[in-house]
This record gives sequence, structure tokens and C-alpha cells, in this order.
Amino acid sequence: MPTDVASQFRITDASLTSVAADVLIVPIFDEDEPSTLGLSAATQGALAEARRIREFKAKPYELFWMGIVADGWQTRRLLAIGAGARADYSPDRARKLAIAGTLAARQRSLGRIAFVLRAVSEEASDTYDAQAIAEGIQLGGFDADAYKTATRETAVLAEVQIVARRATDAMANAVERGRILGECSNFARGLANEPSNVLTPRVLAERAVQSSREVGLDVDVLDETRITALKMGLLLGVARGSDEPPRVIVMRHNPPGVTTGPILGLVGKGVTFDTGGISIKPADGMERMKDDMAGGAAVIAAMRAIAILKAPMRVIGIVPATENMPSGRAIKPGDILTGASGKTVEVINTDAEGRLILGDALWYARELGATHLVDVATLTGACVVALGKITSGLFGTPQSWVDVVRRTADRSGDRCWPMPLFEEYAEQLRSDIADMMNVGGRPAGSITAALFLKEFTGGLPWAHFDVAGTAWSEDAKPYQPKGPNGIAVRTLAELAFTSGEWK
Ligand code: BES
Ligand code: MN
Ligand code: ZN
Repeated sequence: MPTDVASQFRITDASLTSVAADVLIVPIFDEDEPSTLGLSAATQGALAEARRIREFKAKPYELFWMGIVADGWQTRRLLAIGAGARADYSPDRARKLAIAGTLAARQRSLGRIAFVLRAVSEEASDTYDAQAIAEGIQLGGFDADAYKTATRETAVLAEVQIVARRATDAMANAVERGRILGECSNFARGLANEPSNVLTPRVLAERAVQSSREVGLDVDVLDETRITALKMGLLLGVARGSDEPPRVIVMRHNPPGVTTGPILGLVGKGVTFDTGGISIKPADGMERMKDDMAGGAAVIAAMRAIAILKAPMRVIGIVPATENMPSGRAIKPGDILTGASGKTVEVINTDAEGRLILGDALWYARELGATHLVDVATLTGACVVALGKITSGLFGTPQSWVDVVRRTADRSGDRCWPMPLFEEYAEQLRSDIADMMNVGGRPAGSITAALFLKEFTGGLPWAHFDVAGTAWSEDAKPYQPKGPNGIAVRTLAELAFTSGEWK
């Protein structure tokens, strides 16, 4: 479906001289000798000289371009990219180096790239590095230019080679896995980038249906009639203010023959635009609220990856989709809503809409048989205050389940940090006239939001990512352009391969 990414990656153990590409991208460590990989000779000493005079210090993501002038090399351009200290090397660093190198090459209109996998330890770790590098190259191939009409100078990623000391089947599989995870992350990024006048709840559902059919997922979209029949009063309450009807997107991955074992339930917030409703947001920066469906996009894209990669377990993906608008029909502060679970909620602030729609969606995931829940939501500004824009908040229970999710996120490069759910915080949600209020005041705002969600999980193992600060990269970094970054896609997809570790 995403058209701007390469569909063919190759792993090769050919010698560097014989690899033909527009550019050879080579991570260079602090400790590397000038003669490393024959690059000094290839550049007739240019790399060695640059290092000697400290023109190129090999600091992480530092770029240094050179011509390859020696005879016998198939590729004529070298991009050295600083990799820092060997001791700091990790798959995450490898992924980011691959993104930075790919972005730099594409900016120079170079679309055929060869990236060198630096062997740093035992061969086993090469496999995961290969996956991470393939992910990074694909992520670096993402284009946010869909609405620019001028012809672009940035190259499309056309041909990708990863050059390693071995090119075994395991390495080739790892590269293909990484390529797919990167492609699915880019799919989510494209969705989050779409403006709300294009990507309404109905269109989000259409995109999910299209993607699901392509990869063989069962997909079912609940319209307002079926949502009403299920008595999802929290979702319907939020959707009331909008002329666009809500949808609930349900995707199912059922591997043939699997009829027992856990069922992973993935739930993503799909608010296609959040004005705040009657508790309306200030105008400044409101345009960003088109990405209030980034969690939903992550679930749709992760389900795509889960199907393509043939995860061995059953997975259900649920995305409640709606706009949050003010209007003569919109819910008002003080209104009381009844969700599908039967719980009543006093709506104190109509801008706390994410937890409302997720309440009904979590209930539905359980209703459909999920045994383990994970939700992803751009839920609270309070989480941004707590952890900034680098780290997602991770909440949940029991600890053993949160630990599984956290390990998977760490491996996938989705930074997160655990937040507490001590029950005393729940008192802040106590309502005088309903089961609970939808806001708990300013203190611990991301925690009370999570505790609100917990009320709908029916005691199942549940983890919640608050990605309000992390879904959209505000400042461009060498390895991260501005805009949506596909947060949580790889984590959710990889989770469907970890059931062996679950208790
Ligand atoms: N979508 C917002 C949260 C958000 C804030 C996402 C900033 C990305 C960046 C959410 O629906 C919201 O409005 N939350 C309110 C809750 C409050 C009213 C309790 C918030 O955080 O201000
Ligand atoms: Mn809101
Ligand atoms: Zn919102």
C-alpha cells in the first residue's frame, strides 16, 4: 500500500569493492583505524585525513561525504556516518544510523543505497542488527510530500543492499522482517499525516478495510447503527457533536489451526480531529490535533504487519474512530453518559474524550475474547509534562505483563517508561452522581486517565501507552524528520510473537 518505500531489500556478503550502488553508507566508530574496511585507500586517504584533522570525528550521526577514487570499486560515493563508541552500539543505534544515512542519501537524490552492517560482537547479534538496519532504511524512505505539487528532488528509495559478513537465510529473513515492519510504520505515519478533512472516521475505516483485505485479515466496521445496538454510549457521546458518524474498526488475525492460547487485544485511539468539543482547545497549535488518531493508526498498521509476518497467535485490533467537535448537539460539561459496560460517567471536560471512546473499545475487546490488552493513545498533555517528547508513558497491570510489553518496546526502539497506578489516585475520579468523572484534576493527569481506562479492562492483563508527547516528532533530528514517526507499530506487531514469554 505505501508507494514511497522500497519493496526489495537484499543482503549480501560481497566485498565492498564489488557492491554497485549510488552510495556506500558506512558507520564509523570512534575506535576505527583509518585503514578500516579499506576505506582510506578507496578515498586515497581522504577519510584518514578527515579523521586526523578532526574534520570528521565519528560522533553519532555526523555525516562525511567523499568520492571513491581508487580503481576497482563499483560504487563511486562514500557516506561515512559517525557511530560513536563501539561500547554504545546497539540495534537501536543501528536503526537510527540507517535512518540518518538513508535520509541524507535521498536528499542528494541518491536512491540506490548500500549500507554496511558493522560486525561488533558475536555473529548472533548480526541478525537483529540486520532487522534494525532494514527497519531504519525503510523508515528513512518515508515521504511526507503527498500534498506538495512541485516535483521533488528527494530520491525515492529504489534499491537497497545491506552488506554484511554473512548472508545466510536467517539474515535474509531478518532483513525482510525489518523491511515489512518499516513499511507498516510508514503506513501509520501516512495516516497520521492526513488532514482531518480527508481522513474522517469513515475514511480511516476504509483505509483499514483496504489494508486488511490486502493482507488477509478479517475486518469488520461497525457503523452508528451497530454501535448504538451495542450501547456504546461513551463513544456515541463524543461523536454527537460531529456531522461525521463514528466507526469502530475491528480487525482479526486468526492463524489457521490456532484455537487455543491467549488472544492479544490491541486498542488504538482514533480521534481524527480533537477540537476539545464544548471544552474547546485554544487556537494555537490546534492543527496538530489531526494526529489524535496516531494510536489507532498504530493498531491498524501493526495488524497489517502481524498478518504479513504470520504471527503464530490470535490477535484482535480495535479502533474506535470519531471526531471531537463542538456543536448544538455536542455533549456538555456535566452530562452523564452510560458506556457499553454499563458504567456511568459524568463528563466534566469534553476534551477528555479519548478515555471515553477507549472505555467502550476496551470493553468490546474483552467481549470479543481478548485475554491480554494493550492500548495506544495520544491521551494526555499531562504525560507530555511528565516525560516530555522523548518517552511514552507506560501504565498497566499486572507487573509481569507490563514487563513483557516494556521489553518488547525497548527492543523495537519505542522508548517508554513505567508510571504508577496506585489506587489512591482513583479517588480523584470520584463523582457525586455517577460511577466516575472523566477527569481527575491537574495532579497526576496521565495517571488518572490511565486509571479511568483500567475500569474497563475487566481485570485482564492490560498495558497502556500514552503517546501524546511521542507520536509526533516536533524537532527534526538526523534520524527523525519532523512529523509522525509510527510510534508503537513495531512494538505491537512484535508483541504478537512473544506469547512464549507470557505467563
Ligand atoms: N488529544 C488530547 C491529548 C494531547 C495533548 C495529545 C497534547 C497530544 C498533545 C486529549 O484528548 C486531551 O485533550 N486531553 C486533555 C485532558 C484533560 C482535559 C483532562 C489534556 O491533556 O489537556
Ligand atoms: Mn481532547
Ligand atoms: Zn484527544
